[in-house]
Amino acid sequence: MKVYLDNNATTKVDESVFEAMKPFFCEIYGNPNSLHDFGAGTHKKMAQALDYLYDGIRANDEDDIVITSGATESNNWVLKGVWIDEIMHGEKKHIVTTEVEHPAITATCKFLEQQGVEVTYLPVNEQGTIEAHTVRDFIRDDTALVSIMWANNETGKLFPIEEIGQICREKDVLFHSDATQAIGKLPVDVVRCNLDFISFSAHKFHGPKGVGGLYIKAGRKLTPLFHGGEQMGGRRAGTVDVAGMIGMGEAMKLVTSPGALAHEENYVRALRDKLENAILEMEDTVVIGGTENRTPNTTLISIRGVEGEAMLWDLNQNGIGASTGSACASEDLEANPVMNAFGSDSELAHTGVRFSLSRYNTMEEIEYAIEKIKGAIKRLRGISSSYAYAPESHKSGL
Ligand SMILES: Cc1ncc(COP(=O)(O)O)c(C=O)c1O
Repeated sequence: MKVYLDNNATTKVDESVFEAMKPFFCEIYGNPNSLHDFGAGTHKKMAQALDYLYDGIRANDEDDIVITSGATESNNWVLKGVWIDEIMHGEKKHIVTTEVEHPAITATCKFLEQQGVEVTYLPVNEQGTIEAHTVRDFIRDDTALVSIMWANNETGKLFPIEEIGQICREKDVLFHSDATQAIGKLPVDVVRCNLDFISFSAHKFHGPKGVGGLYIKAGRKLTPLFHGGEQMGGRRAGTVDVAGMIGMGEAMKLVTSPGALAHEENYVRALRDKLENAILEMEDTVVIGGTENRTPNTTLISIRGVEGEAMLWDLNQNGIGASTGSACASEDLEANPVMNAFGSDSELAHTGVRFSLSRYNTMEEIEYAIEKIKGAIKRLRGISSSYAYAPESHKSGL
């Protein structure tokens, strides 16, 4: 049996999404910016896809959603655009973010630091999140932007976006959230949360890879990352990936309907909990950051005495795909930075395995995975001498 439990890395394209995309390769292929009928046919479908995107994140008609190549580009664009507009050509010089953002944020912030920007990286608490008032404490008069993810890709932990949005509005500071892991897992409402920008990627919610979006609230200036043609209202030059955009619109419609979100909350959560509870029956296992306040599909579990990479290899032999998250960059076996941010001890930081589920997983698959995971834990602990000397304090450490 093949069981895919790595949906935070990427998801299967839904069949209906694929069907909607197909005509845009060989049948409806006009450039949307052309004036003839070939172009016009494309244009109509793109407008519909855009409508689905607006509805999915509850954007206002006057706001902008710009199609990008994914969340990496969207995140880069917000940070570098705000740097140019508010810091290079303005009076500000400070950005607030967290220690556990995706590298598309943290690496861009490191780059900006080299250009003289001051960045505050807020640490997460034991629950793997931050409290909104912490953001208030760190906003300064010269803060240009607060950028805080909606849900963490490793742990699934949620951040208090609505409360932080309120604080940013009071303090008159721009607010961006990387919502890549939130779309299709919980309701995302950009207006209610006072957001100026959000980033997302289609392939995280059953759309195609290499296409994403950046939401920009009406009236917000953001210097483009790409200069060239006048596509996307002049916000992003370059011919848009039409099939990708159509697919992303269909996927957004599919995963953000009230029925779909309820299915995620009930069905996917039940499968995740069954898997997690079965692993927790094994000695010296712990959910990183605890089980509260998470996306319904994710669990990051530390299994004492079992190197994460060894576990993945063992599971892969049995047809199961999971992840150590952005854990060990395979060449240097560096510990998972998210677990380090929790202050975990060093062995713990190497023993995290992330299972991330989707609407396509079945109970049969989960039962199969449980059997194989339990077998792998016993086997790997049997050959790991360090486990025999592991401190008793594993669970109290978190
Ligand atoms: C939270 C988060 N942000 C950004 C990204 C980058 O997305 P992409 O590779 O599609 O650009 C990812 C992908 O793992 C992610 O999980």
